[in-house]
Amino acid sequence: MLEIENLSKHYGDVKAVQNLDLTIEPGEILCMLGANGAGKTTTLMVALGFTEPTAGTVRIRGVDVTQDPLEAKRHVAYVSENVMLYGNFTARQNLDFFTKLGGKKDASDADYAQVLGRVGLQEDAFNRRVKGFSKGIRQKLGIAIAIMKDAKVILLDEPTSGLDSKSGVEFLQLLADLRTEGKAIWMTTHDIFRAKGIADRVGIMVSGRLVQVLTRRGLEQQDLEALYVQYVSQPTEQAA
Ligand SMILES: Nc1ncnc2c1ncn2[C@@H]1O[C@H](COP(=O)(O)OP(=O)(O)O)[C@@H](O)[C@H]1O
Ligand SMILES: [Mg+2]
Repeated sequence: MLEIENLSKHYGDVKAVQNLDLTIEPGEILCMLGANGAGKTTTLMVALGFTEPTAGTVRIRGVDVTQDPLEAKRHVAYVSENVMLYGNFTARQNLDFFTKLGGKKDASDADYAQVLGRVGLQEDAFNRRVKGFSKGIRQKLGIAIAIMKDAKVILLDEPTSGLDSKSGVEFLQLLADLRTEGKAIWMTTHDIFRAKGIADRVGIMVSGRLVQVLTRRGLEQQDLEALYVQYVSQPTEQAA
């Protein structure tokens, strides 16, 4: 579903991503941990076609994102740390705008209402301007946009940072539901506790390299927090 093969991305001397190999299957959530500057966002930027790889490929449903960016983009949704919404538009108008921008022109008002309800918006909020919405609701609107697009691959970059615990739990439940529907999900997070709670696999990036991928079984057998601290406290030369 999402296939990253021998991906490298350099900015001058900075090796933001080095020889990254990773596949995420349908119905799987991968959580990526890594210190600031580890290369997590850069990987997503390449996968989204915002920047070209220095070497290697990213394929989404078999489509190379560099060779055929428009086709690849049809199958991927992106939820950033601060979901971009128009403050003066209502929740429904934002959903309509971004759904059409994503290429789906035939969604009805009933579709929008159904999805807004699914992500947990109260009906009286559908037609309120998003300007006053909490971060939790904004992030859930990001999920609503991804659901409307019916993207098979969902990439999330620290989507739960700054959410209170109730919103965080609700947000992760939405991701778990999407997993059940067969989406392939990458979520970057700094929250080891949440990663352990939801991930099918947890990756750790250090200085552009994917140094560890733990399955559920590995997560049960190892102390993720201790392992992570051990990796991030290594001198960079060792990691590189
Ligand atoms: N557009 C850019 N130009 C130059 N360097 C960049 C750019 N984007 C990211 N970097 C560098 O690449 C490295 C990885 O950054 P990033 O992917 O944002 O890490 P993370 O998301 O894991 O915090 C960092 O050293 C960062 O400074
Ligand atoms: Mg980042």
